[in-house]
Amino acid sequence: MSDAPSPFRFPDHFLWGTATSAHQVEGNNRYSDWWEWEQSQARHESLKREGKNPEDYISGQACDHYHRFEEDIELMAQGGQNAHRLSIEWARIEPREGEWRQEEVEHYRTVLTSLQQRRIKTFVTLWHFTNPAWFSAKGGWLVHANRKYFLRYVDRIARALGPHVDFWITLNEPGVYTQLSYHWGWWPPQQRSLWASIRVFINLALAHRAAYHLLKRVTPSRPVGIANNVTSIEAYRKHHLWDHVMEWSALIIANHLFYRLSGIRTHDFLGINYYFKTRLLRTRGKLKPTTDNVTRYHRAVNDMGWEIHPHGLFDVLMDLSHLHKPIYITENGIPARHDEQRIAFIKDHLREVYHALRAGAPVQGYCYWSLLDNFEWHEGWKPQFGLIAVDRHTHTRTPKHSYHYYRDIITANALPKDSL
Ligand code: FCB
Repeated sequence: MSDAPSPFRFPDHFLWGTATSAHQVEGNNRYSDWWEWEQSQARHESLKREGKNPEDYISGQACDHYHRFEEDIELMAQGGQNAHRLSIEWARIEPREGEWRQEEVEHYRTVLTSLQQRRIKTFVTLWHFTNPAWFSAKGGWLVHANRKYFLRYVDRIARALGPHVDFWITLNEPGVYTQLSYHWGWWPPQQRSLWASIRVFINLALAHRAAYHLLKRVTPSRPVGIANNVTSIEAYRKHHLWDHVMEWSALIIANHLFYRLSGIRTHDFLGINYYFKTRLLRTRGKLKPTTDNVTRYHRAVNDMGWEIHPHGLFDVLMDLSHLHKPIYITENGIPARHDEQRIAFIKDHLREVYHALRAGAPVQGYCYWSLLDNFEWHEGWKPQFGLIAVDRHTHTRTPKHSYHYYRDIITANALPKDSL
């Protein structure tokens, strides 16, 4: 083997990191609507009916990151990571309406300072699915006027923590939240209404727009964006007009609509979360397309049944390049019990990022989801997305092979030579 450097080099100053969210890792998020829902009798009954143990669906102490953040940041640094995406928990900062907890703001200041001391750039998400329970009791995002509460919180955080933030992410995956909480009814507040979901989506877009302008006033030099869940969508019948229309509209809704509603000018960068591909079966002229279950013909899927499709990341990056904004991959990852699957996933997806870069896509950073095995929303504790395993009871951290594999890529700022 020659010692020549790998040809698959990434640009200098490329950001390499991991992503987490407060509710999924910190623990004890007791003033949030998710905590309330996880503890509720109704949720427990429904899990029992499905033959599941409610204990496995409670965030509880989560990864105890709230107390162990120093250890986790040290692991990031040892893993060569120079960026980290985390979220601030609104329910901790304002547990009751108008009651502000300065000590919690100070907690986040300590976390962010510790990241800065290790030269880790910070992507700070202001809202990652969870709301203070009091906010939800007032109708949450369904009520347009409630936006003012969010903006009040954003204003406080921007003033207090602005100097420690490199990139602001106002909202995480507004489309996913809207669909799962208001259309499919899987997440709190478990509504099943298309109209409610449209309203929430619009309210989130308006909230982002207002938060953008606010952040620009308080911290003018900091780029502001969202983390948008993007997907690769394909209809089989390319020759079929209606299927084509469905593919086109699904792509617009999933990948572009939020930018259009909130105004592309209110996005200094595009943060994208990419996980899987969706294939549309014959739409039969219906408004709701049926998606194909690819396991029936043995395609590669992850532990949650999502189709693994690295090439789709390339397609999405090329598509979004036309918006002429810097792109950061704010999430990309796999739930995998077998860590070799994660290593292959990282390699295959980064290869697509590499190709996209060569083809001119303005990608400037990549955050693997996630640093730790953590609490995966309604799926509970089963999915293992982490580069680092966490013992559910002792919270001991154990880096996996993939952690070292990722570290080697970061250190070389290149993919291994055998990557093609
Ligand atoms: C994304 C979420 C993140 C995590 C991953 C698996 O949709 O933003 O919190 O749950 O999926």
